[in-house]
Amino acid sequence: MKKQIYLSMSVAALVVAAEAIAVLSPVRASQSGGAPTIASLAIPERTKAILQRSCRDCHSNETTWPWYSRIQPIAMLIQHDVSIGRQHLDFSSWGRHPARPIASHNELEEICDVVSKGSMPPGRYLLMHSSARLTTEEVKTICDFADSLR
Ligand code: HEC
Repeated sequence: MKKQIYLSMSVAALVVAAEAIAVLSPVRASQSGGAPTIASLAIPERTKAILQRSCRDCHSNETTWPWYSRIQPIAMLIQHDVSIGRQHLDFSSWGRHPARPIASHNELEEICDVVSKGSMPPGRYLLMHSSARLTTEEVKTICDFADSLR
């Protein structure tokens, strides 16, 4: 009996520790902090809405963390996605350089490329965010936007 109590206490302690690690992680801490939001970018509204709905969680500082992002080991996987996603493409950096207000040529080309191939948003994200799936028309909207800036 005593053994069982010890066991359940250690499980509870592990859960609390995992939660603390998830909440204290630096990725999570870097919320907006004054960086430009997607809403404030000078880009067409239709494009903005798509980026907000389907890309923002991993490619900006405006991540919405779902409840399950506090539970290990899912927390680690999600934080990895967000930090790597931001390294590859970060909409929060787009408004920062007055000389180059929007993305680089390369970024734009890649954005059209990945949505056309269907590799973004990633399948694992669509499992929990089915509304982030892009229609053919939305893929075209993204590519037309990328073309218009070249
Ligand atoms: C679940 C998080 C997540 C979402 C949502 C997401 N991405 Fe990504 N994205 C990543 C990660 C992680 C990478 C790094 C490369 C990889 O893992 O494939 C990446 C890489 C990229 C790259 C760089 C590709 C390369 O080959 O370097 C582009 C461009 C991109 N994403 C665009 C988008 C666009 C546009 C959307 C919305 C339609 C989107 N992503 C949605 C996580 C995400």
